[in-house]
Amino acid sequence: MLQDGAGAAPQSGDDMDRIRIVGGRELHGEIPISGAKNAALPLMIASLLTDQPLTLDNVPRLADVAQLQRILGNHGVDVMVNGKRPEDRDYQGQTLTLSAARIVDTTAPYELVSRMRASFWVIGPLVARMGHARVSMPGGCAIGTRPVDLLLLVLERLGAAIDIDGGYVVARTESGLRGGTIAFPKVTVGGTHTALMAASLARGASVIENAAREPEVVDLADCLNKMGAKISGAGTSRIVVEGVPRLGGARHRVLPDRIETGTYAMAVAMTGGDVLLEGGRPELLQGALDVLTQAGARISSTNQGIRVARNGAGLDPVEVTTRPFPGFPTDLQAQLMALMCCARGTSHITETIFENRFMHVQELVRLGARIHLDGDTASIEGVERLTGAPVMATDLRASVSLVIAALAAEGETMVNRVYHLDRGFERLENKLGRCGAEVQRISG
Ligand code: UD1
Repeated sequence: MLQDGAGAAPQSGDDMDRIRIVGGRELHGEIPISGAKNAALPLMIASLLTDQPLTLDNVPRLADVAQLQRILGNHGVDVMVNGKRPEDRDYQGQTLTLSAARIVDTTAPYELVSRMRASFWVIGPLVARMGHARVSMPGGCAIGTRPVDLLLLVLERLGAAIDIDGGYVVARTESGLRGGTIAFPKVTVGGTHTALMAASLARGASVIENAAREPEVVDLADCLNKMGAKISGAGTSRIVVEGVPRLGGARHRVLPDRIETGTYAMAVAMTGGDVLLEGGRPELLQGALDVLTQAGARISSTNQGIRVARNGAGLDPVEVTTRPFPGFPTDLQAQLMALMCCARGTSHITETIFENRFMHVQELVRLGARIHLDGDTASIEGVERLTGAPVMATDLRASVSLVIAALAAEGETMVNRVYHLDRGFERLENKLGRCGAEVQRISG
């Protein structure tokens, strides 16, 4: 696990760690929002595109970031970590300087890639810069089939030849990538990241149609442009990339994590109370904030971030369908479901992005929730109260939904196997504890 050696709160990636929560406390105070995991990962991978150093500020301290450092290290990227300085605020993110002066290996092996799906994205920069990449098929969250066909479509459209060999994807190009048109049949964040990175070093112009419009795509495009890329239209569904022969170094600040912001907003809506989500930016999650307002939370934006409050009144049920940005994010679906477990009536939540992203349902039911699944739609009948129980974290967002439910449940909940939580939420127990929650990590 990544440590900066200067007073970072210890985090553990140990599979056996548990989180104990005693529910029933309101949340009051401030929660600092970390840099976005889903922006930090592609930004770190972009360092492979240049032999010059790329400096990233506000990088969250997460297991996935540490894992990606190992993967990039294997390719020859030198990572310098500037951690917390004495004058820094408690929760300031870390600064990473990544230098890929020389790529020493274009293979990303199974042992490293299998734990995190996003690490597959190294394939784009490697083949763009080196003309060759051999990358293991990915692992990551067990949420339905998560194929890589659209990522390979990107490379093929830019002129790479693709083979599958012993669980590895091998991508090659004899004379470098050339610009092309990439029309995605469905919106893919990882596909759009891959297209941006690969097309930036291709010969000629590329057009990405039906591109993902997520804020993390815009953040990557901004950083690539600072590195000398010529990208226009990021944030819309049509992006144009003029290839350049080489990219240089840059300095870039990772944008705040909208999923972490939305998660804590839901936690406050669940328990009641009044919390400032410091550094949260409403425009990054307006769709989710609108749903919370509809449910009865009070949301306002201030100079310092987003303020979420709910007094004693109960929550109203909602009807929500997950959609690509700017719609309601799939990464907040499990958390919203936890929240709706205690609403005054029946809510319906439809998941359209990933199949099987309902692993949290069974565990929420263990806490007393009434949820009925019908295909890709869950009906959640609000109950008077949830009751604490031992539950198991199954994927990143599912595990945090159990935490939200536990914060409102009567008695003690033990969330087992919090490994997934550590992949995406920085110091969750400290952030919630500071606001009055009774929550502690139990090691081993
Ligand atoms: C990213 C996020 C993840 C989020 C997801 C959707 C990161 C590190 N992860 O994942 O947290 O839940 O966006 O907002 O940023 N698909 C294919 N073929 C492909 C690629 C994707 O069919 O080659 C499908 C997927 O199965 C899914 C849909 O496209 O049904 C969207 O997936 P995608 O946007 O690519 O998700 P990720 O980039 O993996």
